[in-house]
Amino acid sequence: MASGHHAALIPAAGKSLEVSGVAPNHPRQGEVLVRNHAVAIQPLDAKMLLSGYGGAGAMQSYPALLGSSGAGVVEELGEGVTGLAVGDRVVFDTKALVDPKENLRQGTWQQLLVVDSKTIAKIGNVAFEQAVLIDFPLQTAVAALHLFLGAGEPGTGSENDKVLIWGAGGAVGSYAVQYAKSVGYTVIVTASPKDIERQKQLGASEVIDYKAADVVDQLRTMGPYKYLFTGSGDSASQKALASLLQPQGGEFASVLGGDVELPSNVERVYHPFSQAAQRDEHGEFRAWWYRDYLPKVLQEGLVEPVKFTKREGGLAALQQAAADVFEGKVRGKLILNPQE
Ligand SMILES: NC(=O)c1ccc[n+]([C@@H]2O[C@H](COP(=O)([O-])OP(=O)(O)OC[C@H]3O[C@@H](n4cnc5c(N)ncnc54)[C@H](OP(=O)(O)O)[C@@H]3O)[C@@H](O)[C@H]2O)c1
Repeated sequence: MASGHHAALIPAAGKSLEVSGVAPNHPRQGEVLVRNHAVAIQPLDAKMLLSGYGGAGAMQSYPALLGSSGAGVVEELGEGVTGLAVGDRVVFDTKALVDPKENLRQGTWQQLLVVDSKTIAKIGNVAFEQAVLIDFPLQTAVAALHLFLGAGEPGTGSENDKVLIWGAGGAVGSYAVQYAKSVGYTVIVTASPKDIERQKQLGASEVIDYKAADVVDQLRTMGPYKYLFTGSGDSASQKALASLLQPQGGEFASVLGGDVELPSNVERVYHPFSQAAQRDEHGEFRAWWYRDYLPKVLQEGLVEPVKFTKREGGLAALQQAAADVFEGKVRGKLILNPQE
């Protein structure tokens, strides 16, 4: 049985993280206890910690825990868990940010946490860092493109159809490019000029500088697009995609919402895509993701991971790491080991 462990808690609204000893977590029916060996700082975590962004669901009471994704080793099985064993190496996502009652048990900014066995994938010998580098942002991209826009599973698309990924430079964008390509589409992206070669290696046919004055005109000549997605989610990108949908109108997916004035014939598809698999209404997607697609992608190396930097210092380093992500000082992902 697990004994107490350490967690990086937010003690009160707007306060900095405090690392302290906490009571053990115990797996209930259908859950497992996992020793957490890697977390990647997502912009979502950084924004929630430093600006209170989107925190209403997760942080209705304090102390509170951030982090909804991690990788580690199964230490204990709750009743009724099948298909997992003590000692399995796994990557996982939790309800920490969508269910306030589960926040302290399932937040991944701690050393030992419980996870619903339905949102765990076995990773075999894949490094924990590689697993967390891919799972959360790839899941965001795939949920947006496949679950919400209906772009389909790998191998089911046609290269006669075009997909536009705006803001392909980040983790979500980079994985969106690779996923759209794997489905079979012709992929056109916007990114920084310095990123052109990498984007082409990831599968883009054309790479347009998103800062170019005529970016929308250039994209219009290359369209039309069957699916449109902004991986940066900023208002300029949303307006550009809405413009490309004219005059007939249509929909695009965005990683961010916001108060952006869009034409009435355009629907912006914005959801917490990264948390979609936590919801039972998406049970079919969840089962495909954790049992089929993600283990295959990780174990067969089907996706080129974004760059990462390992930040030393364990849980005590989370506050500064989150600040660095929040201030845009980091390219790629920052990864920490909560056991250090
Ligand atoms: N809705 C959801 O479920 C969900 C899930 C995950 C993430 N998100 C959100 O999605 C955004 C991206 O997340 P991420 O993990 O991919 O972040 P990331 O890896 O840190 O991506 C940052 C990169 O995006 C590019 N970028 C930044 N601003 C841009 C802009 N205005 N236009 C075009 N490209 C821009 C930059 O690359 P270059 O300098 O090379 O252009 C930057 O280095 C964040 O705001 C995050 O909160 C939402």
